[in-house]
Amino acid sequence: AEDGYDLWLRYEQAPVELRADYNSQISSIAVLGQGATIAAARQEMATGLSGILDRTVTVGTAMPRGNALVAGTYDELSGLDLESADVGPEGYAITQMRRNGRVLTVIAAESEIGVLYGTFAFLQHLLQGEPIAGMELVSRPATEHRLLNHWDNLDRYVERGYAGQSLWDWHKLPDYLDPRYTDYARANAAIGVNGTSLTNVNANAEVLTPQYLEKAAALADVFRPYGIKVYLTARFSAPIEIGGLETADPLDEEVQAWWQTKTDEIYNYIPDFGGFLVKANSEGQPGPQDYDRNHADGANMLADAVAPHGGIVMWRAFVYAADETQDRAKQAWEEFVPLDGEFRDNVLIQVKNGPIDFQPREPFSPLFAGVEDTTLMMEFQITKEYLGFATHLAYLGTMWEETLDAPAERTGEGETLTVTDMMVSDNDDYTVSAMAGVANIGTDRNWSGSIFDQANWYAFGRLAWDPEQDAETVAREWAAMTFTPEAEFLDPVVEMMMGSREAVVDYMTPLGLHHLMATGHHYGPGPWVDDLGRPDWNPAYYHKADEEGIGFDRSSTGSDAVSQYAPFLREQWDDPATTPDELLLWFHHLSWDYEMGSGRTLWEEIVFYYERGVQKVEAMRTTWDEMAPYVDAERHAQIADFLAIQEKEARWWRNACLAYFMEVSGRDLPDGYDVPP
Ligand code: GCU
Repeated sequence: AEDGYDLWLRYEQAPVELRADYNSQISSIAVLGQGATIAAARQEMATGLSGILDRTVTVGTAMPRGNALVAGTYDELSGLDLESADVGPEGYAITQMRRNGRVLTVIAAESEIGVLYGTFAFLQHLLQGEPIAGMELVSRPATEHRLLNHWDNLDRYVERGYAGQSLWDWHKLPDYLDPRYTDYARANAAIGVNGTSLTNVNANAEVLTPQYLEKAAALADVFRPYGIKVYLTARFSAPIEIGGLETADPLDEEVQAWWQTKTDEIYNYIPDFGGFLVKANSEGQPGPQDYDRNHADGANMLADAVAPHGGIVMWRAFVYAADETQDRAKQAWEEFVPLDGEFRDNVLIQVKNGPIDFQPREPFSPLFAGVEDTTLMMEFQITKEYLGFATHLAYLGTMWEETLDAPAERTGEGETLTVTDMMVSDNDDYTVSAMAGVANIGTDRNWSGSIFDQANWYAFGRLAWDPEQDAETVAREWAAMTFTPEAEFLDPVVEMMMGSREAVVDYMTPLGLHHLMATGHHYGPGPWVDDLGRPDWNPAYYHKADEEGIGFDRSSTGSDAVSQYAPFLREQWDDPATTPDELLLWFHHLSWDYEMGSGRTLWEEIVFYYERGVQKVEAMRTTWDEMAPYVDAERHAQIADFLAIQEKEARWWRNACLAYFMEVSGRDLPDGYDVPP
């Protein structure tokens, strides 16, 4: 059935008209070498080419004859006298050459995992309808750690998950290994993901007990051939909860010893364990501050425990305190900048893209340009907590590209550095330290809750591999492999994807507004909510709408959050006249009558944007309807139905927000609008 299970590995769908050519180019095929990763590459090559060529393809283990495809490490391929490309420890080079009158297509790498990545790249190339003749592909990851973060609890509930239950069937592990684990690993290897944190950042400490470590080890065994390391969340109070200690104070020797023993135990189960992911002193979670210690004290304790094994600690910067009322957007910077230089080398501070919380649009987190001697890494949210869950179509590649490419700093020489440039790796083989994506994966047959949400998983992997990759190319690749490489389909669908996130911004939170979502679930609109226990849980805290105007004043006359940015940005964003419209109400509280660049008043502009968001979704529906000839009926119908939901809910957002703002401001809809709020 066309249920989306195969993700971007839909080999049967490859363009039929290219088969004859493919067959003539690669009449025999081999993947050289031994080892589990090479076996996985060989298996993938057989499965992939059997699907693409529609015949049973056998993949040999020795140098093949005739026009052939051969994959292997440079060592295995030494007989070919290849010039080795600069592919690094995980990259690959694919080339075509003539040898003694025959055509050889060669996939070469320094390592086994490079061979597997090259194999996937080769197969994907074919799925995108590209010829084999003249193939020249060289690629290596810029980023060292490319991780999914699963927010999965041990009872299989997925926090902010909209795609069913957790994939990890703890009850049946370690003895039953669901074949889905292998398919998960294949899908990830195909996009270069090389790490997975299995448990929720809010999870309890149980996963660190032997019963669960044995299960996690079984998953690690499945993932290992695919180059994927397992990481676990470390609940800071674990020494108390499962260790029987009275404290979790990071400077207490008994606590330190407990973590060391625990870590050694984990490495006994999982020899290549990647390390810990930690949420501490955030939203009520335990942490070093409970003992008057700081983030560095906490992170370093864990870092010392994993260091002898080569592990890392990803310490999250998503912190905000219960008594903070002035401006939550400033807090991460305030807590971490003073600690710059105090973290161990194997600590990475994992920073969400924006200073608040995965909103449809935020400026980048100022922390990215706030430290010099601390390794920073990115945390994106693939699961669409604030962007319409699994039904609204929002391609997030554009959002992530916007953050990664954002100018963040200027050097003394006047060179502009982007957010990506701020995540410097201290490993010479890489330029970027790490990128994490909060997974949108669950037990749904289509993994992600909708077909188009698969694109976000895909885009995360591709951008983690190469943060300079452009979102449009990635969308095109994905759509070609998921549906068809025909231009008549790709052109309009990629255009639709590219505009989709901006449509959500328009109908949910235009012009720099943020966190207008209803409380708790974060799905629909709730700008009127103002009575929750903590001020910063109320949408009203963020929009600050009243009779006079709307917006959060973070300029130098307000919370001064703007001062956390580099001077050139501070200057630009401190003045509403030079603040880009997209961030206007993020940084400024302005009169409803404020005159916009468009000539409209702010109030008219807000109405215009909400209305425009709805219109964009209407246009997306029209586009999709026209794609019926190119897509199987099952997937076409589901996507069409989801777009209908999205349109209905875009109207809901528009109507609810405008009705509320009309009431607060005492204003009517401008002339020409007859929206019925
Ligand atoms: C958001 C989300 C929570 C999550 C938190 C985090 O606030 O709503 O469910 O735990 O982010 O990133 O830790």
